[in-house]
Amino acid sequence: MKAVRVNEFGGPEVLRWEDGVTEPSPGPGEVLIKVAGAGMNFADQSRRRGTYPGGPPPTTLGMEAGGTVASVGSGVSDFKVGDNVMARVAGAQAEYVAARAADVFPAPRGVDPVLAGGIPLVFLTAYHILRTRADIQPGDTVLVHAAASGVGTAAIQLARHWGASVIATASTEEKLALARSLGADHTVNYVDDDFQARVKEITGERGVEVILDSVGGDVLEKSMGCLGVYGRLVTYGNASGAPASLAARDIFSVCGAVMGFSIGRSPEGFLDHKGAMAEMVSLFESGELRLVLDRTMPMGAVAEAHAHLANRGTLGKVILTP
Ligand SMILES: NC(=O)c1ccc[n+]([C@@H]2O[C@H](COP(=O)([O-])OP(=O)(O)OC[C@H]3O[C@@H](n4cnc5c(N)ncnc54)[C@H](OP(=O)(O)O)[C@@H]3O)[C@@H](O)[C@H]2O)c1
Repeated sequence: MKAVRVNEFGGPEVLRWEDGVTEPSPGPGEVLIKVAGAGMNFADQSRRRGTYPGGPPPTTLGMEAGGTVASVGSGVSDFKVGDNVMARVAGAQAEYVAARAADVFPAPRGVDPVLAGGIPLVFLTAYHILRTRADIQPGDTVLVHAAASGVGTAAIQLARHWGASVIATASTEEKLALARSLGADHTVNYVDDDFQARVKEITGERGVEVILDSVGGDVLEKSMGCLGVYGRLVTYGNASGAPASLAARDIFSVCGAVMGFSIGRSPEGFLDHKGAMAEMVSLFESGELRLVLDRTMPMGAVAEAHAHLANRGTLGKVILTP
């Protein structure tokens, strides 16, 4: 079969849409998926460079897929051949991928299987940051940075669904317009404007209850000044690559909580992915949630897709098709 391969870690030039890769066969408790679409994620670039957990090269990229069940391993009773599914699974950017049934979910009815391939990772991440870590409550105000990212677009929709209001930041007017179309109540360009001052103005100096930061550096540092009393800040990425330094006073003086989240490093069984996804699948089916598609690209154009993400060019998800 063909797969997006990295035979040595490095820049986009190491990416190959390679033929002759052995098709996986599902082991006990696994499901073989014929891939229709596989979402790109920011971390694909880290995996390509060798700075993301996983074994040494050669390796197949990808963290999530949508498609149909091609076969099932022993002990799998939840899925049968032909089912439309989506999965959170390493090696998804290929014609076929074998996933543990625990990480496979029924695709929402009415959602194209290609688009379903962009749902699992970002929606589960946004769900667990808001619910499991930040304990979001109706009436909270949530500050979502990098709002047009895959995770950001999911977080805005979920926060609004759970009764919060949203202040969204991004680097361009086009991205801010997307955030508003997803329900953001206020938007701020965090490159051109002083987002800390704007958040204080919007909240009447109160600050926000919840902050989602995946940018790090200055954005994380300035976010501390936006945190209201008993606020919760979740740091879950460092897209800027810049370090940040936080002052103890800024945390204790607002009785604040600064916490981290990593879906990949959460211990096995620690997070209820099946329950979270069941709740979200019904929201997709009722039209309350949607996958924001930047574009689909063929897996053969994976190097261009990496450049597009690195250039901050995306609005929502890029999905690769075999
Ligand atoms: N911890 C976890 O479990 C987990 C899981 C999934 C993703 N993540 C993290 O969540 C973030 C979003 O992931 P994603 O796949 O949804 O990302 P994405 O769609 O590729 O978007 C990343 C966004 O980060 C912003 N950004 C700020 N500074 C940047 C820089 N120097 N270079 C590139 N982008 C920059 C850009 O938005 P602006 O142009 O508006 O600034 C960009 O659109 C990433 O940081 C990723 O590592 C974490």
